[in-house]
Amino acid sequence: MAIADTKERLNVYETARRSAALRAAHFLYGAEPKIFSDNLAEGLSGDSEASIAAMIEGVPASSATTCILRSRFTEDHLAAARSRLNQYVVLGAGLDSFALRQGEALGDLVVFEVDDPPFLEWKRQKIVELGLVEPSQLRYVPCDFEVTTLPDALAASDFDPDSPCFISWLGVTQYITVEATKATLAWAAARPVGSEIVFTYVEGNKHAVSVKESLMSKVGGLTYYTNDEMLELVREAGFSQIEEMTEERANAMFFSGRSDGLIAPQSQRLLSAIV
Ligand SMILES: C[S@@+](CC[C@H](N)C(=O)[O-])C[C@H]1O[C@@H](n2cnc3c(N)ncnc32)[C@H](O)[C@@H]1O
Repeated sequence: MAIADTKERLNVYETARRSAALRAAHFLYGAEPKIFSDNLAEGLSGDSEASIAAMIEGVPASSATTCILRSRFTEDHLAAARSRLNQYVVLGAGLDSFALRQGEALGDLVVFEVDDPPFLEWKRQKIVELGLVEPSQLRYVPCDFEVTTLPDALAASDFDPDSPCFISWLGVTQYITVEATKATLAWAAARPVGSEIVFTYVEGNKHAVSVKESLMSKVGGLTYYTNDEMLELVREAGFSQIEEMTEERANAMFFSGRSDGLIAPQSQRLLSAIV
């Protein structure tokens, strides 16, 4: 469904802030080894350490890990893809801090953060308030996915559509229409060979109750997919090289034997697809 009105849109902003707060909570209180270390998340979230501690109290272990697992999976895949591309498009970037954490160490990797125009303005103001330095390789691409096409939005930047790119799209597909998701997948599949997209979706068949109980439920209607439905969309878009980070695989790779009791997300699914 579309994000219909200002109230819901404001709630979507809140999910970006809460995503950062969950990364901050893991950075501050998660056991070693950390699954993902975001040292800028606390500042960007705007939450005090006390309110982050209070928030995490009420969050189930499987919800607390949605934001850290997806960022870890993405940055691992980006590192593996780095030798074949030098453009990174962060769709629905929210308070993602990859470019800020890397700084000039980005080298020749240009990062395009795409999000709703007022949200990007708000984020940039926050960055200034925190005294953080935006690396010269960082670009902001204002785009409301429901209104502006991604190619049009990126055309206003120095994004090169003829060069391969890495795309992340984390925590967004549940907030937009199936049609908008299909359009973005089709755009991603049409990138030059070697390009890759990593994205999340919310699986709504067997874990509908967990979804309702999660932080995300504070936003109105969500778009759910079954695993089969999403795989069909990805294949229809033209991808054949697909990798899924299932709950079982995530638990085996990242969460077994942890002293903080964290477990893999139950309803958020992660997927990578290479052109
Ligand atoms: C849950 S947050 C995730 C942010 C970030 N990717 C992360 O993992 O922390 C969802 C983000 O998608 C953006 N978003 C949602 N709907 C959008 C739309 N229609 N157009 C542009 N951005 C949108 C929101 O502004 C928000 O930053």
